[in-house]
Amino acid sequence: MNIRPAAAKDFPAIWKIFQSVIAGGDTYVNRAETTEDEARAKWFAANAKTFVAEIDGRIIGSYLLRPNHIDRGSHVANASYIVDANTRGAGVGKALALHSIATAKELGYLAMQFNFVVSTNVAAVNLWKSVGFEIIGTIPKGFNHAALGYVDAHVMFRTL
Ligand SMILES: CC(C)(COP(=O)(O)OP(=O)(O)OC[C@H]1O[C@@H](n2cnc3c(N)ncnc32)[C@H](O)[C@@H]1OP(=O)(O)O)[C@@H](O)C(=O)NCCC(=O)NCCS
Repeated sequence: MNIRPAAAKDFPAIWKIFQSVIAGGDTYVNRAETTEDEARAKWFAANAKTFVAEIDGRIIGSYLLRPNHIDRGSHVANASYIVDANTRGAGVGKALALHSIATAKELGYLAMQFNFVVSTNVAAVNLWKSVGFEIIGTIPKGFNHAALGYVDAHVMFRTL
C-alpha cells in the first residue's frame, strides 16, 4: 500500500468511497444527499492537505488534514478519514492515522483534535484510542444516527 498526496484526478474514487460512507448515516454529519460538488469542496478545501491510500493504483482510502480553527486556533490540526468498505479491518485506517500524525508533526501542528466521533462508531473510537487519542468531552445526543436516532458524539484529542 502506498500513501501519497491526492490529485484532482483522484476525486472520483474518493467520492465513491465517501458517498458510500455517508449513505450509511452512521459516521459523518453529511446527509446522504450531499452532492459531488459539496463533497469535493470538503475533501479539497483550500486549507486542507489531502492524501490517498492505494494498492496497485486503486484508491482504497483517503484522509484530509487541516487546521481545526483559523489564526489563534490553527496550531491544532483536524482530520477526516475514509476507507473503502471492501478493505476495512486490514490496517488501512491505522496506516492513514499514523501517516496523518506524522504529517501533522512535519507541518508544525502541536496537537490534533477530532470534533465529532460518533460514540457508536466503535471502529473509529478504538482506532483513534490505539494511536494515542483520548476522549476529552462528549456531546450528549450530538449525532442523529440514521438507524439509532440521537446518540452521543465524542471530541477526541492528542498532543503531537
Ligand atoms: C474508521 C475506519 C477509517 C477504520 O479503517 P480500517 O481500515 O477498517 O481500520 P484498521 O483495519 O486499520 O483497524 C485499526 C484499528 O481500529 C479498530 N477497529 C477497526 N475496525 C474495527 C471494528 N469493526 N470493531 C472494533 N474495532 C475496530 C481496532 O482497534 C483496529 O486495530 P486492530 O486491528 O489491531 O484490532 C473505517 O472503518 C471507515 O472508513 N469507517 C467509515 C468512515 C469513518 O467512520 N471515519 C472516521 C470518522 S471519525
